[in-house]
Amino acid sequence: MNSKKRLFTGLQPSGEALHIGNYLGALKPFCELYEQYESLLCVVDYHALTTVRDPEILRKNTVNVAKDYLAAGVDPEKAIIFRQSDVPEHTELTWILSTLVTVPFLMQAHAYKDKVAKGIEPTAGLFNYPVLMASDILLYDTDIVPVGQDQRQHIEYTREIATKFNNAYTELFKKPEERIDDSVATIPGTDGRKMSKSYNNTIPLFGTDEEIQKAVMGIVTDSKGVEEAKDPEADAVFAIHKYFADDIETLAKRYRDGGIGYKESKELLAKNIIAAIAPMRERRANISDSDVEAVLAEGAKKAQAIAKTKMDEVRVVIGVRK
Ligand code: ADP
Ligand code: TRP
Repeated sequence: MNSKKRLFTGLQPSGEALHIGNYLGALKPFCELYEQYESLLCVVDYHALTTVRDPEILRKNTVNVAKDYLAAGVDPEKAIIFRQSDVPEHTELTWILSTLVTVPFLMQAHAYKDKVAKGIEPTAGLFNYPVLMASDILLYDTDIVPVGQDQRQHIEYTREIATKFNNAYTELFKKPEERIDDSVATIPGTDGRKMSKSYNNTIPLFGTDEEIQKAVMGIVTDSKGVEEAKDPEADAVFAIHKYFADDIETLAKRYRDGGIGYKESKELLAKNIIAAIAPMRERRANISDSDVEAVLAEGAKKAQAIAKTKMDEVRVVIGVRK
């Protein structure tokens, strides 16, 4: 008997190369969390279809995102890693739930409005995105959903959709809680703003040594000389050191006392980042696409078994089956 609570999270195969902000803010916390739960990690390829229309790219991105998580340390023996499209119950449930939600309700979705504002075509699929996400989560009687801050509303929607179903039929769906990690500070990028793929200020997670060195050497600092006293808390290089340094106190002292220049500080940071992520990079290089396919196939079997049981109940409750 498995008494662990269930965790579900969805990963968009959007094709973006991960940066160390993603790693520290999302992957690493996930790796520290998932074993406490019965965890499902779903590569949401049908969600990505709202923005990716090239079949080769969708296939490639799907494998790559699973590979990133495996490289970061997720053990496929301890989590169900699967592809959304391998479990057709997700889309089946989406149709059923979409008959319960109203157009004005979906019109309030921030993510939809943001995407349309960015120029993404306002298709019915994009509009219905939150219902597919609710289906992902509700199918598995999920307790917690680790997500970024921007997904909070989608989890609220999921609870509301569960309530609508439960009120219309019978108490069948569990209401999930979001798990939003506020403890991780925002990692600054090379220009001092939040590190983000949209700002072009990232340090790549799976980059080569040279790419990492180049990004780190490009971090913007003030122009204080080597001997001048520096405020560590005012420096973006130092802010990233906090996550990679062996002895941050000694480094802080050298900043405050003067004697370390930004060049030396950056060289040290690049060295520490490279050392910290080398094992992940190596692991990633050793995972073949067919290894990933095998993991996804295994995950699909396990996810299908859970989803099938739940959908059998749903079909009876709504009256399409006896
Ligand atoms: P980006 O800003 O590069 O587009 P996303 O919005 O795709 O990143 O974020 C994916 C995940 O990585 C989220 O959970 C987010 O909290 C985390 N993340 C992204 N950038 C940072 C950062 N600079 N510091 C901490 N966490 C971050
Ligand atoms: N919408 C989520 C994102 O953009 C991805 C997602 C799809 C998801 N289904 C999910 C996240 C279910 C958590 C649970 O990041």
